[in-house]
Amino acid sequence: MSDTAQNTPVRFSVVGIGNMGRGHIGHLSRMDGVELVAVCDRIRERADAGAEAGSCTAYTDVSDMFRSAKPDAVLVSTPHYDHVPISIEALSQGIHVLVEKPLAVEGTDARRAIAAYKEAQKRYPGIQFGAMFNQRTYGYWKKIKDLLESGELGRLVRATWIITDWFRTQHYYDTGGWRATWAGEGGGVLLNQCPHNLDLYQWFFGLPSKVRGFASLGKYHQIEVEDEVTACFEHQNGMIGHFITSTGESPGTNRLEIVGEQGRLVFENDTLSFCRNRESMLKTIAESPVSFAKAEYWPATIPFSHHGEGGHRILTERFVKAVQGQGSVVAEAPEGLNSVLLGNAIMLSSFESRTVEMPMDEAAYAARLEKLKAGSSYDPAASEPENGPENLSGTY
Ligand SMILES: NC(=O)c1ccc[n+]([C@@H]2O[C@H](COP(=O)([O-])OP(=O)(O)OC[C@H]3O[C@@H](n4cnc5c(N)ncnc54)[C@H](O)[C@@H]3O)[C@@H](O)[C@H]2O)c1
Repeated sequence: MSDTAQNTPVRFSVVGIGNMGRGHIGHLSRMDGVELVAVCDRIRERADAGAEAGSCTAYTDVSDMFRSAKPDAVLVSTPHYDHVPISIEALSQGIHVLVEKPLAVEGTDARRAIAAYKEAQKRYPGIQFGAMFNQRTYGYWKKIKDLLESGELGRLVRATWIITDWFRTQHYYDTGGWRATWAGEGGGVLLNQCPHNLDLYQWFFGLPSKVRGFASLGKYHQIEVEDEVTACFEHQNGMIGHFITSTGESPGTNRLEIVGEQGRLVFENDTLSFCRNRESMLKTIAESPVSFAKAEYWPATIPFSHHGEGGHRILTERFVKAVQGQGSVVAEAPEGLNSVLLGNAIMLSSFESRTVEMPMDEAAYAARLEKLKAGSSYDPAASEPENGPENLSGTY
């Protein structure tokens, strides 16, 4: 399959027709270069409703869909544990995969998907495996990446991200039986809401060398998993990182502050501001002849252009072009490993009350997760609650 020629419509499918899957059907059914051929949900009514919305065929079993509909590509928007097995099944048949975040629940599982991709690349040159890190298309994050890469801040000293505007009610957690359980979801705010921020963090700064995390399980909600986290990082180059998140804070904050020797860059309230030092503060520290020097700096607002959308459509369009042999995907799925590992390391550190050195012991985290799953209340055989799915657009 995988050999889709330029301008030939990509025969697309979607698996998991819940909140996100329904949105993806909306984009795909209107997208140039796409023919939506099939949708799949384990729940017959959701599959049928998706097929009606997308004017395509409904399936309730993904293997059956791959066999019968023979799609060129699949968008995986199921709960997290199914991301890896469905991706592997598709890739082994030469089907291009665009997987929702996170790539996987834990590192060893993510590596199985990456290994399957490498195998598939040998058999199906040009096969694409992308991840839905839609925030990488946002103008302000792209501008920060650009400023960091161009060395505008000089040597980095500190990055502090307070990202507590992921507020969720108990009702939200009750809209899916899998949600916020160890066996159904595999994690909380770090695994559901923060993969975007953890991905951006590693995109900007790389992975830290040391991680210390403090996570509270079910502090504000009746859930099994973490809903409030504070983490400190130390990077090889000496940079210190802080990552503070919560789904139990309102009004929340989204403030990213990056300090380098050449100044301080802050993103908050849709504004990117930069206080640029006239000379390196490290130089001032070393060479100033006075004790209480105040280095001169110039405040500026950095312009950027932002599309103002959720970014899923734009990322999917790039994926379609890449499948057609034009350009590259926004984020290759293997890049999703780092955000999984960063989240896992924070949780391992919190569970074991110690600093985790990177590369982390992935097997140790996988073993701990198995124990948590064994004690989880999630029952896969139970029917889904009637109040889900719900329109969550605008919450990405
Ligand atoms: N990129 C974003 O901005 C964003 C935002 C929200 C959610 N998500 C991600 O999207 C994914 C889905 O989340 P959601 O909120 O839509 O969940 P949801 O519970 O609303 O929908 C999931 C659907 O998948 C179906 N399903 C489960 N296992 C299946 C299987 N093996 N085969 C077929 N169908 C299956 C369920 O029946 C359900 O209808 C998650 O990975 C989530 O993290 C991404």
